[in-house]
Amino acid sequence: MSKGWTKKDIRDLTGKVAIVTGGNSGIGYETSLALAENYATVILAVRNLNKGHEAVDKIKREFPNANVHVLKLDLNDLESIKEFAEDFRKKFRSLSILINNAGVLMPPKKETKDGFESQFGINYLGHFALTGLLLDLIIKTPDSRVISLGSLSAHSIKPEFKEFLGSKVKSNAMKRYAQSKLACMYFAKELQYRFRARNIDSISVACHPGIAQTYIFGKGSRKLKTRLTRASLKMIGQSAEAAANPILYAATDYSIRGGEYIGPDGRKGIKGSPTELEILDQQFVENVSSNLWILSEKLTGITYKF
Ligand SMILES: NC(=O)c1ccc[n+]([C@@H]2O[C@H](COP(=O)([O-])OP(=O)(O)OC[C@H]3O[C@@H](n4cnc5c(N)ncnc54)[C@H](OP(=O)(O)O)[C@@H]3O)[C@@H](O)[C@H]2O)c1
Repeated sequence: MSKGWTKKDIRDLTGKVAIVTGGNSGIGYETSLALAENYATVILAVRNLNKGHEAVDKIKREFPNANVHVLKLDLNDLESIKEFAEDFRKKFRSLSILINNAGVLMPPKKETKDGFESQFGINYLGHFALTGLLLDLIIKTPDSRVISLGSLSAHSIKPEFKEFLGSKVKSNAMKRYAQSKLACMYFAKELQYRFRARNIDSISVACHPGIAQTYIFGKGSRKLKTRLTRASLKMIGQSAEAAANPILYAATDYSIRGGEYIGPDGRKGIKGSPTELEILDQQFVENVSSNLWILSEKLTGITYKF
């Protein structure tokens, strides 16, 4: 199913445990809300616990019986990612849906705690590490899914991952953001390839939300914060609620087989109903992807144990 899909089509998720990184805000919040509404146990993995608890309160005001929790996760710091994985393991025994949603766009700080270029580190390497640390739980949970967030900004670029890893790279911040998002899309495909090669029935899917005027544009450079930019984004884009649909479709629909790239079906992919897109298959370069994987294991020190 895909044409005209809305969150009303989400199945009953009773018994499913879902993590949403950055679940306190924007598209991640709307994703968490919809998963909780449909009876999943939802863990908001957030860098700011106060914001996380506020989001849980907001969800519970709408759905008083929602099964929602908050755990601390700072993707800027490998140590925090390890602590999150340990914490999660102590509290939960399965993981059905991992939504690698959190992200930054042109942030003021150029480096993560471990010295990675910040957008590459938070948007991509942090999620690479997180997924690797939870892999055994994902694999042992029947019908489990890993969802990675791409972006329209990554549709017309070539992968140049190595060049974008260091914080001293001369390219502009927007280009680094696009490369970090393309890396997330490559990761989704490579993970699916590795699952399939080992006959593991977990699946990995990439998706992009189109354009939605969320806080991500308010935290970046001054140019992104201008009122004009905000107004034009609002005019051309869709609500965060609608932008969550490609993620929710990828995370819950029975028709998804793994390896797909899902995004809005409207003009230029900015808004619309979720549909499968061909662009990632057209862009994908196999050896670049496997090299990125090897490099990511080396940089994070996290080896995937399938
Ligand atoms: N909005 C768009 O038009 C658009 C387009 C394409 C792709 N996307 C992608 O959609 C995803 C969600 O973005 P959004 O638009 O919903 O923006 P948002 O409202 O700013 O949400 C981003 C979330 O990521 C969290 N986050 C940032 N740095 C983090 C870190 N170091 N550790 C843990 N969490 C961190 C933020 O936490 P705080 O609240 O504490 O800052 C926030 O919860 C991102 O991956 C983004 O790249 C968005």
